[in-house]
Amino acid sequence: MGEKTEIYSGIRQKTEALLKIKDMSLSFIQYTSGLRQTELKVISGLSMEAHKGEILAVVGSSGSGKSLLAHAILGILPSNAKLEGKMEYCACTLTQEKKEELRGKELALIPQSTTYLDPLMRISDQVIGSVEEENEGLRKKLQRKIFRKYDLKPEVERMFPHELSGGMTRRVLVSTAVISSAKLIIADEPTPGLDDKTLKETLSYFRDMANNGCAVILITHDIEAALKISDKIAIFYAGTILEVANVEDFKNDGEYLRHPYTRALWNALPQNKFQAIKGHQPMQDEVTDGCIFYERCSKKSEFCSKGFPNLKRVNGGLVRCNNVS
Ligand SMILES: Nc1ncnc2c1ncn2[C@@H]1O[C@H](COP(=O)(O)OP(=O)(O)O)[C@@H](O)[C@H]1O
Ligand code: SF4
Ligand SMILES: [Mg+2]
Repeated sequence: MGEKTEIYSGIRQKTEALLKIKDMSLSFIQYTSGLRQTELKVISGLSMEAHKGEILAVVGSSGSGKSLLAHAILGILPSNAKLEGKMEYCACTLTQEKKEELRGKELALIPQSTTYLDPLMRISDQVIGSVEEENEGLRKKLQRKIFRKYDLKPEVERMFPHELSGGMTRRVLVSTAVISSAKLIIADEPTPGLDDKTLKETLSYFRDMANNGCAVILITHDIEAALKISDKIAIFYAGTILEVANVEDFKNDGEYLRHPYTRALWNALPQNKFQAIKGHQPMQDEVTDGCIFYERCSKKSEFCSKGFPNLKRVNGGLVRCNNVS
């Protein structure tokens, strides 16, 4: 990989952006009594980039819209979803048709739920996927090589999903992404329920993929797991990104972090100050015109209730806050 240093959206980068999202918003069209149509906004003003060779962790609490972001990138949103904004992949517009063409090939999802595996299909067939007859032998060979790498015994090939342990299922899902030779891998909450050893292993697979040149988006609520392997951390809150920090910014008292919420998350960790963050993340219908973190922020000024600042560059990272420069 070249050591070419470029500036993308104000954040230090060593490699090209594979995926760029600009000002994305996502709403659901809902029908209430009397067939009145309403729009429920779940993601707004979201901008981010995923770069080759890097792991970008998208960290946010439950219900903040992380899985919907993954589904929007892959083009698997429900039919009542309305998606707006710009998405580019390899510098070309990523349309719904393009997403369908690339999904499972260049774009891969490692889903949180093991229900993504077909319960009636043998593991090997699911990992290999549909492939022309003349390529079947080659794919089988490759699948065996990947299974050996991920410590999956040959008998796993003929098993059904219900016969696998949690750790094996996780490794099968990772193998599916690896065999697809995807360039962009989105792992949605891959860590809950894993013991320490499996957690470490799972995280190291993502590092391998990034080291092999993939762009990896790791979606998680677990900031500690994210800090172990990621290059950058995007702080996701109530449907948008408040900060993109480099992993090295998370140290000491959090003085290198830019947004009050990121600092509060860092200080809430048991090994730091173990200080809980007061209040709750606003629900979709509680969002106002001002800063989305206004109610919980100890640094707010009157100005902050008037509008929500855009992402701006500060010290090699990105932040949405009026009081940081
Ligand atoms: N099909 C849908 N229709 C309406 N609202 C939805 C739909 N799917 C998800 N949501 C809303 O979007 C919010 C974010 O969902 P999700 O992306 O699953 O959050 P996360 O992955 O961060 O836990 C949920 O709290 C839910 O209220
Ligand atoms: S814009 Fe204002 S309210 Fe929002 S995080 Fe910054 S200081 Fe706090
Ligand atoms: Mg989710």
